[in-house]
Amino acid sequence: MCGIIGYIGKRDALPILIEGLKRLEYRGYDSAGVGILDDKKLSVFRSPGKISSLEKALGDSTIAGTIGIAHTRWATHGPPEERNAHPHADCGARLAVVHNGIIENYAELRASLESRGHTFRSQTDTEVLPHLIEEEQKKKSCDLSTAVRSVLRQIRGTYGIAVVSSEAPDKLIVARLGSPIVLGIGTDEFFVASDASAVLGHTHKVIFLDDGEMAELSRDGYRIFSLDNSKIDKSPEELDWSAEDMQKNGQPHFMLKEMLEQPEVIRNSLRGRLDVENGLAVLGGLRDVAERLRHIDRLIIVACGSAYYAGQVGEYMIEENAGIPVEVELGSEFRYRQPIITENTAVLAVSQSGETADTLAAIREAKMKGALTLGIVNAVGSTIARETDAGVYNHAGPEIGVASTKAFVSQLTVFALLTLFLGRQRKMSMSYGRKLALELQRIPDLVQSILANRQALEPIAASISGAKGMFYLGRKYNAPIAFEGALKLKEVSYIHAEGYASGEMKHGPIALVDSSFPSVVIAPVDSVFEKNKSNIQELKARGGKIFSLTDEDSGDLRSMSDGIIAVPKTVEMLQPILDIVPLQLLAYQVALTKGFDPDKPRNLAKSVTVE
Ligand code: AGP
Repeated sequence: MCGIIGYIGKRDALPILIEGLKRLEYRGYDSAGVGILDDKKLSVFRSPGKISSLEKALGDSTIAGTIGIAHTRWATHGPPEERNAHPHADCGARLAVVHNGIIENYAELRASLESRGHTFRSQTDTEVLPHLIEEEQKKKSCDLSTAVRSVLRQIRGTYGIAVVSSEAPDKLIVARLGSPIVLGIGTDEFFVASDASAVLGHTHKVIFLDDGEMAELSRDGYRIFSLDNSKIDKSPEELDWSAEDMQKNGQPHFMLKEMLEQPEVIRNSLRGRLDVENGLAVLGGLRDVAERLRHIDRLIIVACGSAYYAGQVGEYMIEENAGIPVEVELGSEFRYRQPIITENTAVLAVSQSGETADTLAAIREAKMKGALTLGIVNAVGSTIARETDAGVYNHAGPEIGVASTKAFVSQLTVFALLTLFLGRQRKMSMSYGRKLALELQRIPDLVQSILANRQALEPIAASISGAKGMFYLGRKYNAPIAFEGALKLKEVSYIHAEGYASGEMKHGPIALVDSSFPSVVIAPVDSVFEKNKSNIQELKARGGKIFSLTDEDSGDLRSMSDGIIAVPKTVEMLQPILDIVPLQLLAYQVALTKGFDPDKPRNLAKSVTVE
């Protein structure tokens, strides 16, 4: 998605902005630009493509100036061309605006501005903003903040914006509605960004703006206020993510670094949350709603992508071990349904970024209908985290790789904790709770053993890298793992991989199977093992190549398969946490075999903050 970075202070702004844009590259983009104020002179440079193209466009022009804004754009309105890149300026090229989000009424605003003589250069919705601000300042000769406030009252849609003007050379204005903006509080210098990773190299003190809030920053300080100009007091919070978290720890890719972090991530997700003695999960973020949770009679999980598949595993866990009816809905679908929600319905959003527009919209709909809203979120202070009534942070650390890995494993871990929490409020015995807690503590080491043995996957990666298409099949807890494993392969290797519940394959999809159409079958020795074996026989009978993922060297499975993906054994409810790890590694290895960069998969963005 688009990224914003801004700076005001005593240092040269340009290098700070360029470095900030590079920290935002992981979000996915297709053009970039900077706007620098040098006293009364505004310089804007923009370029399609990567930041390196922008640096080339800048050449050795030494742009002075200690205040500026910059942007990476993921095209929504208008193709990735220089004229559509941000910042966008007004007719007089006196002010510059960068924007994340979508202005839904931009067409009518643009028509009205053009009828008043404004000249537009781009096809974007964003460009109406500088012209509207220019118009406001002309009409009322007001200060920049006032002009921006009155313009934002005319906007329908979402925005996270940063504005500078040569007529207010010591001001940087930001505002947010639906697209995150964070302030970085330095010593005599201030930063603004669309996410904290862009400012962590300079400060750990941050303030997250809420929807409808604005901030005016100068070299001496900042003030936060609402659109009706009432002052808002917010104190900075200290983020414990260090800049090096953003680095790759010496690994070639963020995706590998983050997969290798998974044992520690699971430990962090569990830290302080297991009372083994009493077989309980201690979830501080649910303390205030614990009694309401005791009485919920239905749980709706809303999420997108990998988070949705994590929710499907959570559904099996909670229904089987806590006895609560659960349904899992795609965020993008739930919001258009007429969901039946009562005061005993809880709606749980699962989101790594906490900014996914579809999931956020679903939560807002649920809240409006009176549901108790919960979140399982990784990004501290993100919108979903702040708009739900209660929740559990993953503590997985920043996930930079576009294809989710450690966040997914952390989501499964938190679902196990939530199952323990809800189950023990109901019929789950202390002894079973204790067994679950003890087994959860073993999981990090079991994941470590899979990572240590990842070379064993290389022949399988080589064997499937030429496939045009393939199946991932699983049952019960492993059906969602089949979907997630297929998504991983799609995302980073661009092979058309389909996840299916094993039992569904014979209802049509098996027509695809022949010797050039391999399958990965997730078949741990569990309650549905024999059923999976029959599916493997059916695939073999059609000449399909089979790679079986299983937790024991179950002899005849080896003889039936063209390759074995071995994982350690744990209780059925926790087995999915182990089973997904080799499938993540397999996707990564296939991507490398095909010469693709797994950190920057084509067409994808890390956080989809548009609908
Ligand atoms: C997963 O590999 C993808 N990057 C994508 O499906 C992602 O899980 C989805 O967009 C949801 O994102 P969220 O968890 O930040 O809400």
